[in-house]
Amino acid sequence: MTESYLPPLPSFPISRPRRLRRADWVRRLVAEQHVSVDDLIWPIFIHDQAKNAPIPSMPGVERLSIDAAVTAAKEAEQLGIPAIALFPATDPALKTETGKEATNPDNLICRTVRAIKAATTNIGILCDVALDPYTSHGHDGLLKDGEIINDETVAVLVEQALVQARAGCDIIAPSDMMDGRIGAIRQALDKEGFQRVQIMAYAAKYASAFYGPFRDAVGSAVNLGLGDKRTYQMNPANGDEALREVALDIAEGADMVMVKPGMPYLDICWRVKQAFKLPTFAYQVSGEYAMLAGAAERGWLDRSKVAWESLLSFKRAGCDGVLTYFALDIARMIAEGKRL
Ligand code: PBG
Repeated sequence: MTESYLPPLPSFPISRPRRLRRADWVRRLVAEQHVSVDDLIWPIFIHDQAKNAPIPSMPGVERLSIDAAVTAAKEAEQLGIPAIALFPATDPALKTETGKEATNPDNLICRTVRAIKAATTNIGILCDVALDPYTSHGHDGLLKDGEIINDETVAVLVEQALVQARAGCDIIAPSDMMDGRIGAIRQALDKEGFQRVQIMAYAAKYASAFYGPFRDAVGSAVNLGLGDKRTYQMNPANGDEALREVALDIAEGADMVMVKPGMPYLDICWRVKQAFKLPTFAYQVSGEYAMLAGAAERGWLDRSKVAWESLLSFKRAGCDGVLTYFALDIARMIAEGKRL
């Protein structure tokens, strides 16, 4: 990026940048970015139980019953949140080596999608595609001789995407990082008449330690044990590779792309947006939420203020929207006319 078009600035005392910061009205007038409810995608966790249950490593977040998820979706719709993302905490008894519950048309996610669709009219539903909530080993794909096998996994992910689409899912979001899955899913969706179903690719997804609390939430941490996902998720050392991943997913038919995690990867968000100019999202993941919400719980940070400020950082980095566990907080603040 060249910024040579900038005229030379006069120096102090002619130039006094504080003039434009002196009052609320002028700060608002010259603000470059704004947080809007339209930027938000709210991820929620669901379990197959009648009562909600707190997730200790994500203060303020609960696993919801299907009924509670419907209520949450209705509130989100009312507040103007454009979309919610659903994640299942699968009953451990249903987890298997091949994660076959993922393709059960009556699994927790599909039932939840149908229930929310029946109760709402103007909120999108995003479903994650990956096997980790369903496998006994906690990996996103099929495990054979210690390896996650790509092409066989893609065939299962296609089935998983199809059951979700049939249940009424609006946005299919593959988070598994298998090669070629976007193209395979797009083809299968189109073949079944789901041309209108969108794909948001977790295009640049890193092998990150910031997913820890999420794995508690969906119960995959115990399954994964000491395992890690470094043979399929990206190396945090790499930036150019993210551009290649995004290019592939776009070529295969992704409508929107995502960078994940968020705040430690704002450089990637910026590069992706500048390079491709496609709707670009960041996932402010569970560990990022835990850092902020955990500190706020101890009184060390102001929860609303850090949530708001973090959203502005995504906007500056070029993101069109953010998946964030703060979505409801932010939407409520906006509805009450509050801002940072
Ligand atoms: C599943 C998936 C993960 C997250 C979203 N989808 C975990 C992982 O890849 O291990 C993480 C989200 C978060 O940490 O909030 N593949």
